[in-house]
Amino acid sequence: MIWLVVFSGFLVCAAAGSTTCPIMMSPPRVVVRYGDSLLANCSATHEIEGIGWESTYGGTGLKTGVSSVSLKIDPVKAWVIEPQCYINEVSGEQCVENLPVTVYKTPESVTLSPSTNTWTPMNEGESYVLSCHVVDVAPAEDLRVCWYKGNYMVLIDDYKDRGPVPVNITSFYKFIVDRENNGMKIWCEATLKFNSIEPDPPAMPSKAHEMVVLYPPTFIKSSNETVELRSGKTLALNCTATGNPAPVYSWDFPALIQETIKKENVTEVVWTPTFLLPGEYSCTASNSHGESTKYFSVVEAAEDRTTFAAIVGVFASLGVLLLIAGPFFVASNGSFSFNKGSII
Ligand SMILES: *[C@@H]1O[C@H](CO)[C@@H](O)[C@H](O)[C@H]1NC(C)=O
Ligand SMILES: *[C@@H]1O[C@H](CO)[C@@H](O)[C@H](O)[C@H]1NC(C)=O
Ligand SMILES: *[C@@H]1O[C@H](CO)[C@@H](O)[C@H](O)[C@H]1NC(C)=O
Repeated sequence: MIWLVVFSGFLVCAAAGSTTCPIMMSPPRVVVRYGDSLLANCSATHEIEGIGWESTYGGTGLKTGVSSVSLKIDPVKAWVIEPQCYINEVSGEQCVENLPVTVYKTPESVTLSPSTNTWTPMNEGESYVLSCHVVDVAPAEDLRVCWYKGNYMVLIDDYKDRGPVPVNITSFYKFIVDRENNGMKIWCEATLKFNSIEPDPPAMPSKAHEMVVLYPPTFIKSSNETVELRSGKTLALNCTATGNPAPVYSWDFPALIQETIKKENVTEVVWTPTFLLPGEYSCTASNSHGESTKYFSVVEAAEDRTTFAAIVGVFASLGVLLLIAGPFFVASNGSFSFNKGSII
């Protein structure tokens, strides 16, 4: 019951308000590009004495004997236009209504730049500030700057109270770089958003920058592994790591093999044998940003132990011979495979 009273009270007020100035504007609000033409109509909704536009540009003066009057400004060459339509009523009273006008200008340019003067490869974990310069845009309060990273919008900047004349605006985006950003494109985009029936002018994007991010090696299969040797089965020790710049790999072998290498006076070991013996193997992936080591415990499968005991014996006595005879493979992606069957 109370609600009904309040509600009907509101209706009465609203109705009373609308009867005070019997004016209809078409369109009710104008958004116009600087240099284009503006056209608006004002008409009376009931019988009147006279009607007219008062405006610094395109004013009409009072017209009698008509019920509508047009305002035409061609071209619009001012940033502030505040036209008013007024009506002289039969009763002798006058009433006035403003036509809201927004004069806009799309940006001259939109430029993305790093806080340092030039683009350089970025380091993972460091924080960077990028700026987006929007030159000569009006009105800034309707400007929106959006930041995109790898097709996702990551920041929206809106501006308030910057006045009607063209200004330069700079939006900043600060972020901590991670490896996911490597190869991603980043850019900013300036849009004027008017909330009007007319479509907004198209967004102006900056040039996109493709980021280069440097980061230390990380193994694709990260944890240490225990691998079993089986007769006739190929086995791969996968040391592949991601990293930028691309990692360099080195391997460390069990004492028995290591000693053999030393005898041969090989100093740099970035190779892998065509067969393995049980023991602890490790590989190290390194680049300018760090290094990482992974361990492989190579164990013989239970049913193959006897065979392996024999192999170890042979190897121990003929180690040098085997080293020379066995073909070695180096894989640039950090993995290698061997076939236990092939050595017997
Ligand atoms: C204004 O009125 C004129 C004449 O009545 C009409 O041709 C024109 O389309 C109207 N313009 C707008 C914006 O309503
Ligand atoms: C806006 O930037 C442009 C280009 O950087 C410059 O020429 C102009 O003077 C700047 N205008 C203002 C109002 O700062
Ligand atoms: C891998 O093994 C090494 C040596 O056995 C050890 O120091 C390291 O913590 C292990 N790493 C992982 C991820 O288990």
